[in-house]
Amino acid sequence: MGDVISIDGPAGAGKSSTARKVAQELGFLYVDTGAMYRAVTLAAIRNNIDVQNADQVTQMASKLKIRFKKIDGEYHTFLDGEDVSREIRSSEVADLVSPVSAIAGVRKVLVDQQRKMAQDHDVVMEGRDIGTNVFPDAEYKFFITADVEVRAQRRMKDYQKNGQALNQEKIVEELKKRDKIDSSREHAPLKKPDGAFVVDTTDLDFDEQVQIIVNKVKQ
Ligand code: DC
Repeated sequence: MGDVISIDGPAGAGKSSTARKVAQELGFLYVDTGAMYRAVTLAAIRNNIDVQNADQVTQMASKLKIRFKKIDGEYHTFLDGEDVSREIRSSEVADLVSPVSAIAGVRKVLVDQQRKMAQDHDVVMEGRDIGTNVFPDAEYKFFITADVEVRAQRRMKDYQKNGQALNQEKIVEELKKRDKIDSSREHAPLKKPDGAFVVDTTDLDFDEQVQIIVNKVKQ
């Protein structure tokens, strides 16, 4: 079992970009668990499976092969051999990913895979339940937050990069809705893990966020 750095927090707080850079600086493997829930959601949409049908979604999820590959320095997500990195960031997937990730069976399938990924590697794993549920004994736990307006601005840039134009109001609504479902669901809800170090990134720039975490780990 390798060392685990867990990074949890609400959508758009800067977890992914920060976790990627921390992993690069420390030479750890980076695992974006949100991308795994998004890949399951995309597969449900493509297969016309109702996301309220927990059994069908779980059965489908257990057969999917979700993999990460680093290509030219960028992390790509593969679903059954197809690069779906762009599609999993669409607003259609964002709209349905919270109900999918509230399904206990889906969580079990993905959490088992996440635990296996840390068996032979040091990992920076990012998500909503990493420090509370996947690795409650992680060596280093972080909880990253930021004001919802600031998170919406960051998300808007992500969508623009992806070629989607959405207004900020819609994104604030989407984030609030997602945070509410993610924090109030029965199975592994989003909350600050015991013993986690909190990083509020509202007034921090990217390099500051990264350095706070890297310094804490090196201490
Ligand atoms: O980090 P993200 O926005 O890509 O995550 C997408 C959704 O996946 C998020 O709304 C909740 C869910 N998720 C989860 O339930 N548990 C995780 N460990 C990671 C993400």
